[in-house]
Amino acid sequence: MSQTTAQETTASRERVAEASRSNVREGKGASTPIVVAENIHKTFRSGEIEVHALRGLDLTIGTGEMVAIMGPSGCGKTTLLNTLSGLDSFDDGEVTIEGTSLADMNDRRRTEYRARRMGFVFQSFNLLPVISAVENVEMPLLVSGVRPAEARRRSLASLDSVGLADRASHRPMQLSGGQIQRVTIARALVNNPALVWADEPTGNLDVGSSTDVLGLMQRLNREQGRTFVIVTHDPQVAALCERIVQMEDGEIVAHE
Ligand SMILES: Nc1ncnc2c1ncn2[C@@H]1O[C@H](COP(=O)(O)OP(=O)(O)OP(=O)(O)O)[C@@H](O)[C@H]1O
Ligand SMILES: [Mg+2]
Repeated sequence: MSQTTAQETTASRERVAEASRSNVREGKGASTPIVVAENIHKTFRSGEIEVHALRGLDLTIGTGEMVAIMGPSGCGKTTLLNTLSGLDSFDDGEVTIEGTSLADMNDRRRTEYRARRMGFVFQSFNLLPVISAVENVEMPLLVSGVRPAEARRRSLASLDSVGLADRASHRPMQLSGGQIQRVTIARALVNNPALVWADEPTGNLDVGSSTDVLGLMQRLNREQGRTFVIVTHDPQVAALCERIVQMEDGEIVAHE
């Protein structure tokens, strides 16, 4: 091993060790980090206007954690999820997921990794209106090459896990808001992801439906150890999370 590589390896080990220590400081115990973000900068430029949406942000998420990200509108929460999950690029800093830097993955590998290990509950990933619930849920499996019969079986099982087995053939328009949100969650979970990113998962739900959706996420977190990173304005959501990360103007200002 060359000296530089050895130094880099030592530096990288030290970073992981520091991330574990910072988890301990943040009250999480010594769980292995699943996501380590360091000094992330992201600026949007459109014409003359520049928005420095992420300003040197650091964040470590422990494996099996359920974390809420809160903060005022426009402070960079959605941008943070997009960049940490590799959906969008960033200008400076490093994101390491399960020990691999996003920068070391090419586009294809990032896409493949996302399909295999991550689930998304985003409003921008809405359901397709012209196909049924079960067809919407099986879409990520078909995209990642699972055979149709197997994809259908797993899709039905995922709908069953959110209590919607009897609505599998309904199109989104034939479902209530809470049911649509649960189909979205079934789709996010169908590939058995280690890490689920959710952006305002209860944003459009009544209290009853949002309690159902939250109960489901909490069960998957506690019983199956899946990691959830949830952007929310909803105090009911935050109350269920083990840790609340407060953002302001592109930075993390507090961990509660
Ligand atoms: N594609 C874009 N081009 C230019 N500016 C953008 C773009 N996306 C976001 N921004 C700006 O970046 C900042 C952060 O936006 P972001 O969507 O991350 O906020 P947020 O915290 O998710 O807000 P909200 O709670 O309203 O969803 C905002 O000031 C926004 O105007
Ligand atoms: Mg947002």
